Parts: sequence; structure tokens; C-alpha cells
Amino acid sequence: MGLTRNLLVSTVTVLLTVTLAVNACPPSDRAALLAFRAALNEPYLGIFNTWSGSDCCTNWYGVSCDPETKRVADIILRGESEDPIIENAGRSGYMTGSISPSLCQLDRLTTLVVADWKDISGEIPSCLSSLPNLRILDLIGNKISGQIPADIGQLSKLTVLNLADNQISGLIPSSIVNLNSLMHLELSNNKISGEIPSEIGKLSMMSRALLSRNQLTGPIPSSIANIYRLADLDLSMNQITGSIPAQIGSMPVLSTLNLDNNLLSGEIPTGLLANSGLNILNLSHNSLEGNLPDVFGSKTYFTAIDLSYNNLRGSIPKSLSSAKYIGHLDLSHNHLCGPIPTGSPFDHLEASSFANNDCLCGMPLRTC
Ligand SMILES: *[C@@H]1O[C@H](CO)[C@@H](O)[C@H](O)[C@H]1NC(C)=O
Repeated sequence: MGLTRNLLVSTVTVLLTVTLAVNACPPSDRAALLAFRAALNEPYLGIFNTWSGSDCCTNWYGVSCDPETKRVADIILRGESEDPIIENAGRSGYMTGSISPSLCQLDRLTTLVVADWKDISGEIPSCLSSLPNLRILDLIGNKISGQIPADIGQLSKLTVLNLADNQISGLIPSSIVNLNSLMHLELSNNKISGEIPSEIGKLSMMSRALLSRNQLTGPIPSSIANIYRLADLDLSMNQITGSIPAQIGSMPVLSTLNLDNNLLSGEIPTGLLANSGLNILNLSHNSLEGNLPDVFGSKTYFTAIDLSYNNLRGSIPKSLSSAKYIGHLDLSHNHLCGPIPTGSPFDHLEASSFANNDCLCGMPLRTC
């Protein structure tokens, strides 16, 4: 009798506990979200008005939970999106304040997107690097300052790190090369200085690395060429020195390479211009020298090649006329000389593509 009753009581207790647990977010997650909200001010859209009631998993704008555990899994707040709350307001988002370290209590968090709010300042809470499940960290388009947390490399599941368009300074932490899962690294338009970690090549999953418009110095690490999946590399508008590692020319899926506006010297690697997968190449505004390698052919297909503002010498290789396609070509402001090749890839190009060289001639310039 007593045993049956006890069993019944304990079964009911277990059921109740389970039911409570799966019906609402834990009070501690709710408290962490409210502390995060308290450090921000969003005056125009009222997105945080939805953050009320005890269940932060239901109808809290931008918050979603794991359906089984009811733990907060994603926070996605985008100031520029096609979301009705933003479309109907007829203006893009704006927020001031900072990102509260209270978020670090959400230890099941996988996605943190607080993007394009223009005026969120303060630093990236360094404790974010201890969130074991974080896959996406996207804080683009704010006014975040301070440094990238030194132990960011602990985030072994991180696939997207986007801190572009902020005011982040300091170095790229060397631990970044431990981000085994990283696919997209976007740090463009900040104040990041120092060198690119020489072991960057360990980021074997990376397909996009955008580091333009910073204050990076030192060489392009040759290990970068080991990143098999790298398709888009942008290091433009920094102060990078040294020559372009020849190995970059044999990267299998590289399709966009922007190294413009740096202090690069030496010759253009032959393999780079021979790489038939490369579609967009911008090396303009550097101190590259030597001749243009004569490696073009029927597989050459460039949407854009910009080699302007360098110290290139010699003539334009005739083989460039056998290219399959050249959309935009800029060889201006070099020391090239001799006849401009003729043929279909050249017919649409204007004089500005060849201007300010030593002695180029032929269409579209003066006759030779
Ligand atoms: C190449 O880079 C230069 C300098 O940053 C820029 O002005 C130019 O528009 C770029 N060229 C192309 C084809 O995008």
C-alpha cells in the first residue's frame, strides 16, 4: 500500500518537474537576457517590449530556445533586415549601450547576432570565449572597441566570427588559429594592428577571410596557401609588406584575391595569373615590380584584374589576347611599354586601363 503510494507520489513529482522544465525557459536564462537588455537602449522600434512574461522562449523578439531543454540557444538581433518590425518602422535599427557579460551565463548559446545597430559601444565580453557551444558570433556594424578576447581560440565549434565595421583594436589573438571549425572570418574595417598569425594556415575549414581596412603589418603568411577551402581572401587597405607568397597561386578554389593598397613588393607570382579559378584579382596600389608573366591562355577568365599603381615593367604579354574573358583590366600607372595586344578580350577596354605607363601604344592609345 505504502509502497504504491510512494511510487505514485514520486512519479507525479518527476512528471511535474519534467513538465515544468520543458514548458518555460529557466529563470536564470531569463535573468541573463534581462540583464543583457538592461545594458542596451533601443529607442525607435521597441523590440525589447516583447521581452516580458516569464517564458523567454515564447515571443521574445530574436530569442529562440532548444525545444527540448528550453535553454536559450539563439539571440539574433539585426538592425538591418527585412523583418516586418524593421520594414514597418521605415528605418533601420539603432541602439546604444553595450553587450553585457551576463550573456556568458547562457551556456547553451549557439548563435549570438547583434548586428548593424550602429552605436553599440563598449568591449566584447571576454567571457564569451567560454561559451562551449557558440557557433556564430556576429557583431558587425556597431561601435565596439577594445580587443578580440585573447582566448577566442577556445571556441572549438565557432564557424562564423564577424566583427567587421567596428572600432576593434589590438592584435589578432594568436589563439585564433585554434578555431578548428571556423569558416568565415570577417574583421574588416576596424583598427586591428600587428601581424597576421603565421599559423593561420591551420584554419582548414575557412572559406572566407576578410581583413581589409585595418592596420595590419608584416608579411602574408605563406601557410595561408594551405587552406584548401579558401575562396575569398581580402587583405586590402592595410600595411602589409613583403612579397606575395608563390604558393597562393596554386590554391585550388581561390576565386577572389584583394591585396590592393598595401606595401607589397617583389614580383607577381606566375601561378597567380595562371590560376584559372581566380576571377577577381586586385593588386593595385602596391610596389610590385618585374614583368607580367606570360602565362595567359584559353582558360584565363577574369571578371576583374587590377594591377594599377605598381612598378610593373616590360610589355603586356601577347598571350593575354587568347584569354577566354577579361571583364575589367587596369594596368594604368605602371612602367609598361610596347604594343597593346589586340583581340576580343581587349576590344572593349578604354584608354584609362592603360594610362600613365612609360610607352604603351596601339588601340585604345595612340598608334605605335
Ligand atoms: C582595386 O583596388 C583599388 C584600391 O583599393 C580600388 O580603387 C579599385 O576600384 C579596385 N579595383 C577593382 C576592379 O575593384
